[in-house]
Amino acid sequence: MSGFFREGNALVCDGVGLEAVARAHGTPVYVYSAESIRGAYSALDTAFAAHPQRIHYASAVDANSMGEIELAMRAGYPPSDIVFTGVGKTPEELDRAVALGLKAINAESAGELERIDRAAQGRGVRARVALRVNPDINSGTHPHISTGLHVNKFGVPLERARAIYRKMVNQPGLQPVGIHVHLGSQIITLDPLQKATSMVVKLAHELRDVGLPIEYVDLGGGLGISYDGSRVPDAEQYARAVLPLVQSSGLSIVLEPGRLLVGGSCALVARIVDIKDGPGGRHFAVIDASMTELIRPALYGAFHRIDAVTPRADRELSYDVVGPVCESSDAFGEERRLPALEVGDLLAILDAGAYGSAMGSTYNRRPLAPEVMIDGGKTMVIRRRQTFEEMLALEN
Ligand SMILES: Cc1ncc(COP(=O)(O)O)c(C=O)c1O
Repeated sequence: MSGFFREGNALVCDGVGLEAVARAHGTPVYVYSAESIRGAYSALDTAFAAHPQRIHYASAVDANSMGEIELAMRAGYPPSDIVFTGVGKTPEELDRAVALGLKAINAESAGELERIDRAAQGRGVRARVALRVNPDINSGTHPHISTGLHVNKFGVPLERARAIYRKMVNQPGLQPVGIHVHLGSQIITLDPLQKATSMVVKLAHELRDVGLPIEYVDLGGGLGISYDGSRVPDAEQYARAVLPLVQSSGLSIVLEPGRLLVGGSCALVARIVDIKDGPGGRHFAVIDASMTELIRPALYGAFHRIDAVTPRADRELSYDVVGPVCESSDAFGEERRLPALEVGDLLAILDAGAYGSAMGSTYNRRPLAPEVMIDGGKTMVIRRRQTFEEMLALEN
């Protein structure tokens, strides 16, 4: 068994007790299961094994900034394995991306392609590019993480994409190699993903017919996970939905999963620092983690399961689990039924592996929390806790 489960009364990660991790590394602390990350990766890899494909994990290797490109290279990935996506790349970023010779720059507009063309010609090279198509498809996800509707800032509409690709024939600095689409995140129905796949495969055929040798379709990321235990499509169902649309096309597939690979593999472990009465017989359980560690609930009302690490009573009470930061949005769950809690108890906020630590901040002058990986019974600190000195080092 991998991930988070109970051994006796105690919540463990891959068999290692979260009480011991919290004692050794302090709280709040992010705890990851290496085994469940491997499991999620291999489920996706196996599901798509019948077709030439590459998994570009977002956010390294599918990089959204120069910082992520830097991270990917330091982790050992060659530039030829990195795609660079993102609205609003600066001239410096584009020039560096061209100089590195990335697998592709996923361009967001005709203007950006002109800038890439100029940068590439200036260096006497051809930059591999894909254009991000905005398919105007509703993926049914939260508006803040929807990226494939015409009102969203991402990509270009299909009609314009055709003309922009055709123009590339006369842009000597550009080598169009792929078509990119990414509908959004936490998508839990397959229909929109299928529609987007059909659209880009059809476009690739049209472009090949006019002499543009498109190598691959980049289907983006977006497949969601279950935060509340309800059924959601898995990697195999996703593959069964989209593979038939690509199979006979001669195109390979690029996937950019993020949440799917890491979301369920992590818990944010926090200690209760105060308990007080709230309205209507509820209680506030104030923990030492806040929106600075995990902003998803504050940012888009995201739901995370919350469990007591070592439940101490059969009696359940109703708790609002909140953080110490000076905003009422700094809350993790309302009216949660939990075993009677005491100050000093540990809570685990589950499924915190995606858009958790990476979106952490030092608001309220709170140092960044550490990240700990459990692998084969061993505990590794993969990012240590920031010190006050480090947090304040840039300030004059
Ligand atoms: C272009 C792109 N690809 C992939 C992803 C990963 O999305 P998810 O974590 O939903 O799979 C993102 C996330 O923001 C993205 O912007």
